[in-house]
Amino acid sequence: MSADAGSVSNLALFDAYPQVRESVAWVGLGHYPTPVTPMPELARALGGGEAEIWVKRDDQSADLYGGNKVRKLEFVLAEALRRGHRRVWTMGGTGSHQVLANSLYARAVGLDCAAVVFPQPMTEHVGQVLREIGETDCELVWAHHMLTVPVAAARLVARFLLRDGRIPMQVPPGASSPLGALGYVSAALELVGQIRRGECPRPEVVFTAMGSLGTAAGLMVGFRLSGMDIPVRCVRVVLAPLAPISRLAALCRATAGLLRRHGVVVPGTFRTTDMEVEPDYVGEGYGYVTPAGQVAVAAAAADSLHLETTYTGKALAGLMTYVRQRREGWRRVLFWNTFASGHVSDHAGGHAQKNSPPAKS
Ligand SMILES: Cc1ncc(COP(=O)(O)O)c(C=O)c1O
Repeated sequence: MSADAGSVSNLALFDAYPQVRESVAWVGLGHYPTPVTPMPELARALGGGEAEIWVKRDDQSADLYGGNKVRKLEFVLAEALRRGHRRVWTMGGTGSHQVLANSLYARAVGLDCAAVVFPQPMTEHVGQVLREIGETDCELVWAHHMLTVPVAAARLVARFLLRDGRIPMQVPPGASSPLGALGYVSAALELVGQIRRGECPRPEVVFTAMGSLGTAAGLMVGFRLSGMDIPVRCVRVVLAPLAPISRLAALCRATAGLLRRHGVVVPGTFRTTDMEVEPDYVGEGYGYVTPAGQVAVAAAAADSLHLETTYTGKALAGLMTYVRQRREGWRRVLFWNTFASGHVSDHAGGHAQKNSPPAKS
């Protein structure tokens, strides 16, 4: 287990509801609360006057590798340990933050890791993540296309069944099960605590990238639970059939249901019509670079924020349009930075396993 991984919790969810700490498996991987800071340059560039843009710095959620996977994996990997697994597997694109985070944190808590990986448009950042995955111990099975992932997954499961006599636990894409979403329920409570302590103003809206849905669903459930029902604008970064609004609402309900089973009642319900999804920023599809996303990445740099073009650039592009369209009306908006900038090679390096892409598709 790494120096980071442990049982000391500073989770807002456990502070507010100690009974959840008693009954849900959890392993500490990150540092909370993450900072919340202003983006004065972006506000100025968008003609804000008195209006403010704030950013929740989940890029700083952990030393080893930050971003939005840390909070989710604290619950999901702990559950794998609780069930007595020695290995987990997951899936993602060639530049998958999920595969990288899963590889690093599985190892940190003493689990072996495997992943099904499918091609996505190559960018410099995707290449960097792929190299970093290659430096971990994660055993990869390559799918030739996103559509053939189930075939590759069956190969992976069969391989480990033969080798270990047991099927490894699947960590769902993005660790976005109701259990994983609890990490973002806690994150919402954490931000509400920061607002109540006067560390930042209450935003009229929060913007976040939406792929496998767990971040957005957790935030919505958490804000509702807190009594400060801040709207979450979910900027979809995959094509609609991969992240339908109905599934987002269903994940909110399932997460609230999980909390209820642990004695925490989230008021109201989550209907499809309650979801605020921004569908216009994905471009040609998952991983494709869009001009608006590139503009947003460049704009964020003025506030020393390092984003990428698959998720956070698109999410910030959504926020920038919102601000521009409400030029007279907007007061305070918050961007949830889900991206772990910086390289992990120094932390992850030195493993024997080297993962190579398939020879042909
Ligand atoms: C940097 C980043 N932001 C946002 C997301 C999307 O979050 P979610 O999958 O919880 O919807 C991802 C998912 O991989 C991500 O890597």
